[in-house]
Amino acid sequence: MQFMDQHELKKTLARLTLGDIRYFDSIGSTNDEALAWAADDAPDLSIVIADEQTMGRGRLDRKWSTPSGTALAFSLILSPTEEEKPHLSRTVGLAALAVATALQIRGLHPQIKWPNDVLLLGRKVCGILTESVWSGDDVDCVVIGIGINVLKDAVPPADELLFPAISIEEAMGQAPGRVEILHDILASFIELRPRMVQDDFLNQWESLLAFKDESVQVEAKDAPAVVGQVSGLEPDGSLKLRNEHGEFVTVRFGDVRLRPLA
Ligand code: ATP
Ligand code: BTN
Repeated sequence: MQFMDQHELKKTLARLTLGDIRYFDSIGSTNDEALAWAADDAPDLSIVIADEQTMGRGRLDRKWSTPSGTALAFSLILSPTEEEKPHLSRTVGLAALAVATALQIRGLHPQIKWPNDVLLLGRKVCGILTESVWSGDDVDCVVIGIGINVLKDAVPPADELLFPAISIEEAMGQAPGRVEILHDILASFIELRPRMVQDDFLNQWESLLAFKDESVQVEAKDAPAVVGQVSGLEPDGSLKLRNEHGEFVTVRFGDVRLRPLA
């Protein structure tokens, strides 16, 4: 169990060019707070962070567990520029790459399980939930919610999980500080952000894709599952699979679930 020192948090994050920071010892969901704040003119790169979430969410309101003193749960508010707006489907990749970079500098070998998870040793260490705030047909803000299992006690019991999970502590063999990890993720995010609009960004994202060239099944609600080998990404971040006939099939973002084929 780690204590989250609010003063240390704000002092460490002051080294970065961020918006404002809202810290909570306990909150329902940092994404809910960030969505309300984004609708109320939060400055670009403002952050909501909590030590504990009581109603943390994954996609389609599936539960994300964040016990006190064990994890990172935060939401970053992105107020996109006009240049970034056509590329917002890449935001989840930007966030996943920022998390992956912070893990790599600790000697770990993260992979990105398309579309929204970061894995260590093939198990889920981080989940990402992006949600948009709209002004008519225009995206005003994107809220990027990031949950990371830092200590072993953050990981829910296996029978509550649909995909195996891990913590950074378990993968590293020691417990790293949450504030330092958060700092490194945000620093990487700021550094990578200008690349999001460039073609080369896809190569960087693709280079960390989990199950590359392996057979997977992508399950979607109300549609037949798609089976194929992971081939790469489309320019918008959609997943490219090669099916059994050698044809390329594109899987778009949505409520889709990727699983390795046994
Ligand atoms: P999946 O992880 O099943 O591939 P997903 O990334 O879309 O899909 P969601 O379906 O949105 O995830 O829901 C979150 C999932 O994460 C739930 O299945 C839940 O069991 C699992 N989960 C909840 N808390 C944690 C946690 N702290 N670490 C890892 N997994 C978690
Ligand atoms: C997933 O795996 O599907 C995404 C999980 C996202 C969890 C994070 S924790 C911070 C933010 N607040 C939430 O309620 N969800 C996201």
